[in-house]
Amino acid sequence: MPATSPLIPGRSCPVEYRYGARALATPATLCAGNLWIAGGLYGNPFAFRRLEEMFSAERGESALVFNGDFHWFDVADEPFDEIERGVARHAATRGNVETELAQPQAGAGCGCAYPDWVDDEDVARSNRIVERLKGTARRAPGAAARLAALPMYRIAEVGGQRIAVVHGDADSLAGWGFSQEALATRPGQEAALAAFRTAGVRVFASSHTCLPVLQGFDDVGVIVNNGAAGMPNFAGTQYGLATRVSLAPHAKALYGTRIGPLHVEAIPIDYDAPAWRAAFLAQWPEGSDAHASYWRRIKFGPRYGMDLALRAA
Ligand SMILES: [Fe+2]
Repeated sequence: MPATSPLIPGRSCPVEYRYGARALATPATLCAGNLWIAGGLYGNPFAFRRLEEMFSAERGESALVFNGDFHWFDVADEPFDEIERGVARHAATRGNVETELAQPQAGAGCGCAYPDWVDDEDVARSNRIVERLKGTARRAPGAAARLAALPMYRIAEVGGQRIAVVHGDADSLAGWGFSQEALATRPGQEAALAAFRTAGVRVFASSHTCLPVLQGFDDVGVIVNNGAAGMPNFAGTQYGLATRVSLAPHAKALYGTRIGPLHVEAIPIDYDAPAWRAAFLAQWPEGSDAHASYWRRIKFGPRYGMDLALRAA
């Protein structure tokens, strides 16, 4: 899109969201033996509690990073505050949701930068969801300042290997370059390969695009998108997903791959699904925007299978 084009709320990527893969070629600021990355918690406190419980069982130096969109459905004060307090105990980066809560970009809407395959009604509903969530954030003392202070990405190190933790892709907070759709195309794979070289990393861990994918690139690197920590990711399932990068495999990993000395895995977050459905409905009853966009997925999972997420090099 030319720089002079007006922003289309929910469709455009604000210039403030862009950092470029070169910005990721910086020293690591986080070092751990076990690195957990959970994007897309989407305001689900039950997923937060289960995730923290599973993470706490790790032995050795471990870090948990919430790489954005930890708020979304939590328009009631209590779950919003629980997630604010909980995330503050760990490392975090901003997603487009937190960025729009902290420092709204004129005309960005939800900041999702939705591609063409997401229809206009979904985009309009997302813009209205973020407007309502802004009211919740304004009532939470200090939330805007805390969220504004979060970085857009983190460079971590596990076993001497560099890992870029981003929300969208190698270039932008809300980029769709690491979506399962883009990574299924030749240009998408070529762009990803170039990003490994530019950023000098072995693993990109992303989220944002809502569906998980684990794509290897021979011995160059791995892109792992955890989909959503706070919503089902596969048809007929009721658990979220987190990414774990470690020198040792996890007993509960659903699937994974190896790159150099690293195990890169998807870990199921088996939260209390009935309790979450009830909490969601209390905030977003039938007829509401989030109900129209997400209830089917929360109840039945998306039309997507695990066989589509795990991709060979
Ligand atoms: Fe996002």
